[in-house]
Amino acid sequence: MDHFYITTPIYYVNDKPHIGHAYTTILADVLARYHRLLGVPTHFLTGTDEHGQKVQNAAARHGISPIEHCNETIVHFQKLWERLGITNDDFIRTTQQRHIRVVQEALQDLWDRGLIYKSTYQGWYCVGDERFYKDKDVQDGKCPDCGRQLEQFEESCYNFRMSNYQQQLIDYIQAHPKFIQPDHFRNETLGYLKKPLEDLCISRPKSRLSWGIELPFDHDYVCYVWFDALVNYISAIGYLHDEEMFRKWWPVNYHLIGKDILTTHSVYWPTMLMAMNVPLPQTIFAHGWWLTNDVKMGKSNHNAVNPMDMIDRYGVDAFRYYLIAAMSLGQDANFQEEFFNTRYNAELANDLGNFVSRALTMTTRTNGGAIPPAVGEDDPSTQALVLLCKKAVREMPDAIDNMHLDAGISSIMTVVREANRYWSERKPWEMAKEGRQDELNVVLRTSLETIRIVSGLLYPVMPEKMAVVRRALAIPEDKLAPDYTMLSQWYVLQDGAQVTLPPPLFPKVQLEPEEPAAPANAPAPAPKAKKAKKDAPAEVVTLDEVGKVSLKTATILSAEKVPDAEKLLRLQIQLGAETRQIVSGIAQWYKPEELTGKTIVVVANLKPATIRGVESKGMLLAAKAGDTLRLVTLDGDIPSGVSIG
Ligand code: MSP
Repeated sequence: MDHFYITTPIYYVNDKPHIGHAYTTILADVLARYHRLLGVPTHFLTGTDEHGQKVQNAAARHGISPIEHCNETIVHFQKLWERLGITNDDFIRTTQQRHIRVVQEALQDLWDRGLIYKSTYQGWYCVGDERFYKDKDVQDGKCPDCGRQLEQFEESCYNFRMSNYQQQLIDYIQAHPKFIQPDHFRNETLGYLKKPLEDLCISRPKSRLSWGIELPFDHDYVCYVWFDALVNYISAIGYLHDEEMFRKWWPVNYHLIGKDILTTHSVYWPTMLMAMNVPLPQTIFAHGWWLTNDVKMGKSNHNAVNPMDMIDRYGVDAFRYYLIAAMSLGQDANFQEEFFNTRYNAELANDLGNFVSRALTMTTRTNGGAIPPAVGEDDPSTQALVLLCKKAVREMPDAIDNMHLDAGISSIMTVVREANRYWSERKPWEMAKEGRQDELNVVLRTSLETIRIVSGLLYPVMPEKMAVVRRALAIPEDKLAPDYTMLSQWYVLQDGAQVTLPPPLFPKVQLEPEEPAAPANAPAPAPKAKKAKKDAPAEVVTLDEVGKVSLKTATILSAEKVPDAEKLLRLQIQLGAETRQIVSGIAQWYKPEELTGKTIVVVANLKPATIRGVESKGMLLAAKAGDTLRLVTLDGDIPSGVSIG
């Protein structure tokens, strides 16, 4: 790869950043950091989308000018990115001159070439989403996307000849399987393109909306905010103004986006680029939503979680780790502090923090802190740990290339768990007590090398904490950011170098009890009477108990085999508004292609699990008799996400 250019969507300035925004930006940051470590020249762009009706209205409400409003609100984003350790190379604002001039030049060129024309628009407008709809897309005057009341109107407008490019775009998507990812979003776009593609209204009369980029060929109009915003991806890297820079970074490797802005990116943007004669992006990658109690997190749903609160409680790195580890790309995920807290305490405090601390402490106590010399790894448990480390290093580039970061992290954490098991098995404290120094040296050196590799692999995800760990291993300052070629090698630490003991890396965090705790001197509460099991026969359950299991209908969107696991299939399912992934041991009975489109029944509230490195959220129901297995399906049409009870 000769370059890596990655972008986030540019964020609307009318909203305070929440976990949904933080997620995309952290994901882009992790990918940018990985590529820099791999030695690939990298450019990471983020920014803010500052024009449009919502900003104009918000500014008016506050009695300030739109640009004053933007200047005040972008600070929330910039501060959060700084706090999260985001290493963007550029921050574009659509109110900057460098952007405005490119939008105007592109518009003028399209107008001159007859690719924009004037006509009359009749239809519906959603103020909330800033989108127009035709009669055929609207029922009862409600927005088909957000359900809010639409406004009906008619006005003169300028249209972009988007329809010219419909077939060209379909052909391109079909010839380039990686262009829209994951596959179910590629299929969604192809589905959208089955209907005739209409031309796109790209103007707004100033009489209604003045806060935008003026059309160069008609001063009474400004540009539609999406047509303006999408151009940021090229205006920021010198399109039409810095030929050399533009050639260096374009085509972009990844446009990371949330699934709600798929059509604007997978249809509007490519057709705009085709009209401008600019090559198309390599990959548009859509991720799912962060939900709170199954509802999309966002300002309008009043359920947004403020990232700053989580950072205050758990630290920046743990927050970055959790967001990346807990979302399978392309799927939705529920953000609940209980889940975060459980994984934090188990994976970071117990597994990783504990292992680093015990290895460094034992080296300090038994060897005066000196890294023991490299001395072979003959016993099977040591060999197994070395192999596992090498496997995690080998798998990471694939996990990055295929955007399976959660799986990559899961294989690193397998190494950490195995390393703790290695200690339980080898019992180095007994070796120390019995003076078996050679054996002890093997365990210590193996453990310290393991920590070097794990901290290197996790460095892009948790840069601050992993720098602390690597400093404690006496790794020189200029090597704290690891050189990836060194991670696949063993015995890289310096013999005899002095390790140090850092403060606890991930102190345990106790969730606040829901009821106020009793004062310390209060009499101890009477022990709660244990519910006698014999109240009811074991095979009988109460309605309450049944109610705990949430059974729902789900439609299978796609299915594929899990590599190296012949019994398992990975299914993408639609569960109401949510898409999820589940892993199921049904490969023996169903071919992946037989499953697409089936409506099945799933246990929707099963605790998520990672099966062979693949996250599974839920369980499907099937009946098995002897060698036969059949899925539980429904005997007629019913939407997905419907509760069964
Ligand atoms: N300004 C447009 C993007 C223009 S890009 C040329 C926009 N801005 S936004 O601020 O509303 O959203 C920015 C991104 O945040 C989108 O990718 C959106 O999907 C993402 N998220 C907003 N809420 C989200 C969640 N609850 N979960 C995950 N991401 C979501 O759209």
